[in-house]
Amino acid sequence: MIRLIAALDSRRGIATDSGIPWKLPGDTAYFRAKTATGLILMGRATYDEFAAPLHKRENFVLTTHPGPLRTGFRAIGSLDQLTAENPGEDVWVIGGATVYAHTITEAGELLLTQVDGDFDCTKFFPPYETEFGLTARSDDRQDGVTTYRFETWQRLPSRPTDPV
Ligand SMILES: NC(=O)c1ccc[n+]([C@@H]2O[C@H](COP(=O)([O-])OP(=O)(O)OC[C@H]3O[C@@H](n4cnc5c(N)ncnc54)[C@H](OP(=O)(O)O)[C@@H]3O)[C@@H](O)[C@H]2O)c1
Repeated sequence: MIRLIAALDSRRGIATDSGIPWKLPGDTAYFRAKTATGLILMGRATYDEFAAPLHKRENFVLTTHPGPLRTGFRAIGSLDQLTAENPGEDVWVIGGATVYAHTITEAGELLLTQVDGDFDCTKFFPPYETEFGLTARSDDRQDGVTTYRFETWQRLPSRPTDPV
């Protein structure tokens, strides 16, 4: 299955121009545990912010500029190419905004960390509430002054086409 995993604020914001505006150790631990198996796919701008690949295994970077990347990262031209080359593998799409927007139509599940508050973000997660239904929600967590919770959203069955 293709899954998107993201942390968003109350306006669906995921980052300012300086990057992710919160530091939530509990969310980082959740993210690492959830993405421990399966393929990792990120956009080139998110790759630029990563010091090293996740989980010490090859991470795929969506880019239109296939050139050499740092050790542990491999360029890929599309999500379709990734799934065709790795049949049956689960894929974790880990951002950023452009990649979420390009891949959400292929996703079966969303793991969303809902962070309370407006962090003046300039990059956003795409709208999802009409295509996905909430199936699980954790209790509220708190890191410092910030409250957040983990949610799972699953793709809703497509509605039958109205008769013409
Ligand atoms: N809150 C969160 O959960 C979260 C998670 C991850 C990232 N972020 C934040 O998101 C921000 C980055 O988001 P962003 O939207 O600027 O960048 P991004 O989505 O990480 O990367 C965009 C780049 O990916 C490549 N790309 C995207 N779609 C493509 C496609 N369909 N085919 C081929 N290549 C494609 C392009 O690279 P080329 O120009 O090389 O072709 C594009 O410029 C960062 O600040 C990061 O911190 C937040």
